Amino acid sequence: MDYKYTSRSENDTMELAENIESEKFPGMVICLDGELGSGKTVFVKGFAKSLGISENITSPTFNIVKEYESGEVPLNHMDVYRLEDSDTTIGFNDYFKSEDITIIEWAELIQDKLPDERLDIKFKVVGENTRVLILKPYGQKYEDLVNFVL
Ligand SMILES: Nc1ncnc2c1ncn2[C@@H]1O[C@H](COP(=O)(O)OP(=O)(O)O)[C@@H](O)[C@H]1O
Ligand SMILES: [Mg+2]
Repeated sequence: MDYKYTSRSENDTMELAENIESEKFPGMVICLDGELGSGKTVFVKGFAKSLGISENITSPTFNIVKEYESGEVPLNHMDVYRLEDSDTTIGFNDYFKSEDITIIEWAELIQDKLPDERLDIKFKVVGENTRVLILKPYGQKYEDLVNFVL
């Protein structure tokens, strides 16, 4: 089942991310999709802030993955937008099997590598400050999470 959340400000998106963070569990994977400027990185910022990560979050453009260790649990932030076919050295599976939390921007681009159990969030720009977020949980843990948060 899909769940819809309307965000009317950057703060709304941060708050949703913070609420999801409060229900985190080991190995959680969140997949973000949506056009440039739709709020994917804002979501990661909100999540990271809530985890207590002190560093400024920016999209990991050149290295694809950034690992943040300063929060309550390790957070891996991926942005696979510029992933090249030659980037076979990124062991996605190792990240997804780990106890860390992983959030992926442009996850659609690595669809065949994503774990079966995960939370997908699709961001749609519907106005200058309005975004419609479609949350799609895969697996019971993610269903419970979304039901609790929304
Ligand atoms: N409701 C909203 N949710 C998230 N970002 C918003 C919202 N309204 C406006 N914005 C703005 O849209 C931009 C989103 O940028 P960013 O998160 O980097 O997008 P993406 O990572 O999807 O390319 C930011 O400048 C943010 O301030
Ligand atoms: Mg981004």
